[in-house]
Amino acid sequence: DDPAKLQPRAPVVTIMGHVDHGKTSLLDALRGANVQAGEAGGITQHIGAYQVKTPDGSIVTFLDTPGHEAFTEMRARGANVTDVAILVVAADDGLKPQSIESINHAKAAGVPIIVAINKIDKEGANPQRVRERLLEHEIIVEAMGGEVQDVEVSALKKTNLDKLLDAIALQAEIMELKANPDRNAEGTVVEAKLDKGRGPVATILVRRGTLRVGDIFVCGAESGRVRALVNDQGQQVKEAGPSMPVEVLGLGGVPMAGDTLVVVDNEARAREVAAYRQEQ
Ligand code: GTP
Ligand code: MG
Ligand code: NA
Repeated sequence: DDPAKLQPRAPVVTIMGHVDHGKTSLLDALRGANVQAGEAGGITQHIGAYQVKTPDGSIVTFLDTPGHEAFTEMRARGANVTDVAILVVAADDGLKPQSIESINHAKAAGVPIIVAINKIDKEGANPQRVRERLLEHEIIVEAMGGEVQDVEVSALKKTNLDKLLDAIALQAEIMELKANPDRNAEGTVVEAKLDKGRGPVATILVRRGTLRVGDIFVCGAESGRVRALVNDQGQQVKEAGPSMPVEVLGLGGVPMAGDTLVVVDNEARAREVAAYRQEQ
């Protein structure tokens, strides 16, 4: 990309951690929403993608991942598409197997971690014990003299959410995240499904360029033309720029999570690329 065309983009932040440590509740509190209450068994089973406007007016893209042990692959995918990982650890429960797994995914992806020590409102909360246990996994938080930011929060009481957003903003500032919005879009499939009414639907995280209704694209081994774009509020939008998660309608089939979507100049080119990819 032409460096002169690079513009600041929103940070992509993936929320990771052990089951029921409060990831979705924390994101709900940040968004003023209530996704957690509607989940079957209170368990997240997919990757949610949302944008939050912070009090200072900047935008942060959040990916919510499941904590249940069955969803290792989704956690790995979440770590691979993100700029920053937030490790949520319940202060009463402490570090658990999927907390440690999440640390390892973030490290493998080379992604900086911010630790959110949640549920500090609870009896038996012991944030200092969490910090000590993190040392065993080479996560040295600021309070222990290290460089990893840690914030004590309560999703339930909405305590210190501003501090968590500040920590994200500081980390993002250091990273100087940029992308060129003025080119054919490229994005990653966060998840995809066959919707009864709407046909194949993919949630795409746009990495660079701007995706527009009418664009011709290849997505994994599928090709298509964007029929509609739906934002995280369920509203139809005409375009989606860098760091924006958006549902794409108009696919010829269901792509795989992790696939890349690229916009091409014409249908002949789309067929050519899709055929080539199908052979791979
Ligand atoms: P999975 O996605 O299934 O891994 O769970 P999760 O990490 O998203 O946790 P979830 O938001 O589903 O919360 C699990 C339980 O913890 C729910 O009953 C929440 O109400 C509760 N909870 C979450 N945050 C807090 C908190 O700060 N304090 C207290 N007391 N309870 C909390
Ligand atoms: Mg959840
Ligand atoms: Na849960």
